[in-house]
Amino acid sequence: MTIRTKAPGPRPKPFLKWAGGKAQLLDVLIKRVKDAGLFPRYFEPFVGGGALFFGLFRLGLLQGKPVSLSDTNARLIDAYLGVRDRLDELIQLLQRHAAAHSKEYYYAMRAQVPEEPVARAARIIYLNKTCFNGLFRENSKGEFNVPMGSYTDPIICDEENLRACSSALKAVDIACRHFSEVLNLARPGDFVYFDPPYHPLSATSSFTAYDKGGFAEKDQRELAAIFTELTERGVKGLLSNSMTPFITELYSDSRFRIEEVYATRAVNSRADRRGKIAEALIRNYAIES
Ligand SMILES: C[S@@+](CC[C@H](N)C(=O)[O-])C[C@H]1O[C@@H](n2cnc3c(N)ncnc32)[C@H](O)[C@@H]1O
Repeated sequence: MTIRTKAPGPRPKPFLKWAGGKAQLLDVLIKRVKDAGLFPRYFEPFVGGGALFFGLFRLGLLQGKPVSLSDTNARLIDAYLGVRDRLDELIQLLQRHAAAHSKEYYYAMRAQVPEEPVARAARIIYLNKTCFNGLFRENSKGEFNVPMGSYTDPIICDEENLRACSSALKAVDIACRHFSEVLNLARPGDFVYFDPPYHPLSATSSFTAYDKGGFAEKDQRELAAIFTELTERGVKGLLSNSMTPFITELYSDSRFRIEEVYATRAVNSRADRRGKIAEALIRNYAIES
């Protein structure tokens, strides 16, 4: 008997570097999704780089299921739509960016947002591959303001992976929307993975400025209320966040199970301040045996 652990076909991995990306926790997250048993549809309302989506796809665990990926970062969604819908043009543009890459070119590209959607997608992928630490940061006017990184030979156009991602995203609903809209979309039995910006470990360690809006304690509270409502409706949900007293209090209702897992966080620009940090995985379902 052959036991198949990997789906045949393309093996996409996130095409962007993204702060808070879940590569570190991928195995445990995948295990917890499997533990939820069968579900008809999959939602990720804080998709970022999509580490879990691509991980589940690679294993064939989303085969035949409608999937919905969303985020409020419009530039990020531009990139997903470009990869899904305009792949060949996107690859051509990225090859041009790669050929032209220099310090002057980086800052010229950073300074202007093109009108044409596929050019916006290529610009953000180019900036993501060449900027400092793959960060996404905008000033109060919504202008991307991350300095150039110091890579000797950044891979700006990974054509094979972009093709694999495009085929993984083919039938996927991709939208720029607030997480609360999942309430209008998810039905009983569906699965939702929430990966909001981390609640800061201390007042000075905040790294929540994913976009101009940031993500404050009131947003974490709104998210907990939505997770509670989905739980009442029979939607299965898994959420990751920092293990802080505020978060454990927010999910202290007995319908939630809080588990402690460890990951290395890469958002601190000083390598000596990176280390293993306890994270909370919160779910609203029992593990089926
Ligand atoms: C921790 S990151 C997600 C990382 C992702 N799981 C990955 O693997 O790369 C959080 C994401 O939430 C998005 N976000 C922030 N506020 C939001 C909101 N109100 N609604 C939806 N998405 C939001 C950010 O743009 C960011 O991409």
